[in-house]
Amino acid sequence: MTSVLGIVGHPLDHSVSVPMHMSAIFTLGIDYVYMSFDILPGNVAHAVVQFKKEHIKGFNVTIPYKEIIMPYLDGVDEYASRVGAVNTVNNENGRLKGYNTDGTGYVKSLREQTGLDPRGKKVLMIGAGGAAKAVAFSLLEAGVQTIIIANRTPERAESLCRHLKIYFSGASSQCIGMPDINTIDHKAINLVINTTSLGMKGAGDIDIDLTDFENDTVVSDIVYNPLETPLLKRAGQAGLKTHDGAGMLVYQGAESFRIWTGVQPPVDVMRQAVLRALQEHH
Ligand SMILES: NC(=O)c1ccc[n+]([C@@H]2O[C@H](COP(=O)([O-])OP(=O)(O)OC[C@H]3O[C@@H](n4cnc5c(N)ncnc54)[C@H](OP(=O)(O)O)[C@@H]3O)[C@@H](O)[C@H]2O)c1
Repeated sequence: MTSVLGIVGHPLDHSVSVPMHMSAIFTLGIDYVYMSFDILPGNVAHAVVQFKKEHIKGFNVTIPYKEIIMPYLDGVDEYASRVGAVNTVNNENGRLKGYNTDGTGYVKSLREQTGLDPRGKKVLMIGAGGAAKAVAFSLLEAGVQTIIIANRTPERAESLCRHLKIYFSGASSQCIGMPDINTIDHKAINLVINTTSLGMKGAGDIDIDLTDFENDTVVSDIVYNPLETPLLKRAGQAGLKTHDGAGMLVYQGAESFRIWTGVQPPVDVMRQAVLRALQEHH
């Protein structure tokens, strides 16, 4: 019987996970299908119960459910539980277990695309949602010295800072208000990351002035649709290095695929499928 995989989120119009995973499934010739499940916020708990009943093999979790889905699962692996967010769920003998592949996917892509070594670096991260948690966690694990977090809802940033301090006492995690992203010393920042959904098609831009960063500062956006977000466009115009969200998408997806199927997927095929789908979406 065909094994069913998918993605759970709302909205899902921006997602290119279906073509990305289907390209790997076709290339490997395995009996799987990957589908979109656009679930309304009030229906998440019910959907999880139904997925279990239908023996769904696994699914990705995206905006806005990475944190709220956790209590509905039968278990969460140690890493995802430390991060406090789940982006991958695997059905293991009828038990739904949560994992997180976002952060490692992000750091792998950052290193590959920009050559930046996170060790000892100072990071300004905008956003404190589910993806932000994983990105911050992986950057600190990779040796980032200081992370400054700004979020629209300040309590969420404060809670993330407190969380990070528990696991990374040797590093500095600081919270600032959104307007303060333009008043802190930009020259000291090595990496700016947008982890909010601002920059996605139809959403606005981040209100950050990019004119006084050092030239070797990397500006990174985990939003991948469009690939060149307004933030990355401005960063390029200001002469700064840019890092888009496609690499993270591919690497987090490849690791999810490996968890579900036990097979290492063809990453280059997945990357091509993502780029093609993003062009078609354009
Ligand atoms: N490239 C990849 O592989 C990858 C992986 C994961 C996620 N992503 C992208 O990352 C984004 C966030 O995903 P998520 O799962 O972390 O979502 P989430 O948990 O719902 O968090 C959303 C974040 O965006 C902020 N935000 C939303 N609307 C905003 C607005 N109008 N103004 C300012 N801030 C706003 C939220 O701030 P509040 O706390 O104030 O609501 C929060 O920080 C999405 O665009 C998603 O597609 C990409």
